[in-house]
Formats: sequence, structure tokens, C-alpha cells
Amino acid sequence: MSAHPHGWLECLRCKAKFGLHEIRYTCECGGLLSSERPQGWGRGLGPAVFDARLGSRQGLDRSGVWRFREGVLDARPDEIVSHPEGATRLYQRRALCDWAGIDALHFKHEGENPTGSFKDRGMTVAMTQAKRLGSTAVACASTGNTSASLAAYAGQAGLKGVVFVPAGKVAVGKLAQTLAYGALTLQIRGDFDAAMDLLQQASAKLGIYLVNSINPFRIEGQKTIVWEILQDLAWQPPDWIAFPAGNLGNTSAFGKALREAKQAGWITKVPRLAAVQAHGANPFFRSFVEGFKTRHKVQAETVASAIRIGDPVSYERARASIEETNGVVSEVTDEELLAAKREIDRSGIGCEPASACSLAGARKLRGEGVIKPGESVVCVLTGHVLKDPEVVTKHVPASQLIEIDPTLAAVEKALAG
Ligand code: F0G
Repeated sequence: MSAHPHGWLECLRCKAKFGLHEIRYTCECGGLLSSERPQGWGRGLGPAVFDARLGSRQGLDRSGVWRFREGVLDARPDEIVSHPEGATRLYQRRALCDWAGIDALHFKHEGENPTGSFKDRGMTVAMTQAKRLGSTAVACASTGNTSASLAAYAGQAGLKGVVFVPAGKVAVGKLAQTLAYGALTLQIRGDFDAAMDLLQQASAKLGIYLVNSINPFRIEGQKTIVWEILQDLAWQPPDWIAFPAGNLGNTSAFGKALREAKQAGWITKVPRLAAVQAHGANPFFRSFVEGFKTRHKVQAETVASAIRIGDPVSYERARASIEETNGVVSEVTDEELLAAKREIDRSGIGCEPASACSLAGARKLRGEGVIKPGESVVCVLTGHVLKDPEVVTKHVPASQLIEIDPTLAAVEKALAG
């Protein structure tokens, strides 16, 4: 019998192993940790089991995370803190296919999670683990979505939630959620990278459980975005999955999800990952174009506040994801991502600015010939349109939002344009 029958934490650099009940986020050598399980864990599981759960009324099966529980976390049902989450929709819109020049283009809308972003998928697992470890307080640094998610799940679990956010840099919808759900909100005079650094010092010193995506259990939950996409497509993988990249948690999780799905025999073909950064916050893109020779840090600035990150913590495991999937890293300007957001919004789907990097990036990669004619693409929309209402109201054309007198004549004039 192995020393770790239900799994272990493993250093990505030196392969050291630690028990699942140790509170640690990095190895002695500084490497990031990954949650691993004994070989053969996926035996007997697969499309038939997951598809049966999709039609089940049982609580855990209804969560798009815990539907895949054997590959997420070996927790007892009564330990699980679930809203439930996931089970988001996959959309297709002719207008967006035409705009991107990609016929087989789908959108997985992670903004349809309970707190309006994909973060809930990782948070349900990290919060469950926090409870299992007996933590009383949980914390994260955030550009706004992780903090909203933490606040909601901490509220549900009855734990104290503490969030570190860059002062004045969080979109209004996200800050409002974080406060409404009751988290102690520390507005750091500095950027996200400074908040992340401070949080790491504080959690080590003050014994608060850290639930940023540096936490390997967050990654386990976020894998289910990809597993659910595969299930949505009847286990016929797309050629590409395109998504925005900031702190690189999703990039890490998506690569791991595909590796495990392939190993378990759920799929035979592995999609290529396309991680898309904003030009003003592009350290991962800079590393990619140099063949990952150097790890870059930048002073980040972009309209997409969710991904205004200059020194992503999950660099190492994200690099592995790109290399293993023959993936690419791209970048788009603020103008390009806002143009893509406008198209997504106008199609009736809607998303927050960072999410639109996926479509902007897919269109660009198609234009460059990296995505070939006839190849299929799933774009992940990471956050809801109402997360950042100011970006919409600031850019609305004068001809669309018109104040008028309460007269029929004024209505007639406005309609005549
Ligand atoms: N899209 C949205 C809407 C996000 O909120 C984030 C990250 C990303 C994309 C990037 O994902 O970090 O896994 O590469 N938001 C974090 C937060 C940083 O604090 O909410 P990543």
C-alpha cells in the first residue's frame, strides 16, 4: 500500500511528495505543488459515468465540478462546500463565427457561475480543503473575481474571509460583491503583484489559509472547465481552446485537465491551448516568443483589470501546459479586446473585458494562419458582462444613450436618429 493512498502533493521541480493534509503551497526548493493521485484512478470512469451524472438529480452530480469528483478531490460529501457551481452553457453565434473567420467556434460562458466568474470552480475545492484542514480564516490577493468568489464561499462555509486588492483598481461589480458577501477587504496601496507578495508573507506569518491559484486545490477545480467542454461536445475535442491569461492558473489547470483526460482514455486527441494576454500585461507572451528562455516581469497596465498582472505566480506549470499541448501564447491590444467584447456583447452573450481576449486572440491567430481553416475553437469567457459595467458605460456611443424630454415628439426625433 502506498504511503499516500488517496493522493499527494508533488513538487513540479524536484518531485518531492507531501501529504494532502499538509498546509503548504510551495516546496522547500521553491517549486509549485500539484495535487496528484495514484495511477489508475480514472479506471472505470469516463464519458458514460459522467454523462449519467449529468441527468442525475443528486446534489453533487449537479455541480459541474463535483460531477468529476474522483479527479478533483477525495472528500466526503458532507465536507464539500458547493453552491453548486459549473454546469455553464456552451454558445454558438453565426455573427461571431463570421467576425473571427472561424466556422466551428463555440463559447463556454464561465461568467454563468454563481458569483459570475470561473473562480467558483476552484474556490469550491479550495474552500472544501480549508474546512478539512480545520482552517478558520481564508485569504487571497485578487483583481476582483477571486475575492468575490472567496467572499461567497467563505460566507457559505462560515469561515472568515480576507481579501487583498489593489486600491482603486477593482471593477465596481466585483468590489460590491466582495463587500456584500462580507469579506474583510484590504485595499493595498500598490498593484496586484504587490498585493500577492504581501499576502504570501501574511499567510505564512498569520496562519491564514491561502486560496489563490498558487493553491494546488484551486487548479483541481478549474480543470473541470475543460472536462465540461469535452462533455458539452460529446467528448469530441475541439482543435483549440482559447482563453485569457493573467496569473496563469487556468493555463496550468487546462494543461493538467487534458493530460489526465488523455491518460484516462476519455479522449484520444488533445486540443492545442491558446493563452491570450493583454499587450500591456504580457510577461508570459514575452517568454513564449523567446522559447521560454527567460521569465519576464512587467509593470502591468490594461483596460482588462482582471488580468492586470505583471508577475504571474503559476509561470512554471503554465509553461508545461503550453509545451505539452503544442500550444501558443498570443497578445492583443486593448483596442482589439474591446472590439471583441463589443461583438460578444452585441451578439447577446456578453462578458467582461478580460474574457474577450479569447475571441480577440482566436481572430488574430486565425488571421496569422496559426489556426487553420476548418479548425474548431472553443473560447472560454471567464467573467460576466456586469462585472465591469463602467467599461461599457464609458465607451457607449452618444447616439445610443440619449436623454430626452417626456414627449412623443422627442421619442420620434430620437428614433429617426
Ligand atoms: N479572466 C478573468 C475574468 C479573471 O478574473 C482572471 C483572473 C483571468 C481571466 C485570468 O486567469 O489568472 O488563471 O490566468 N483573475 C484573478 C482574480 C487574478 O484575482 O480574480 P488566470
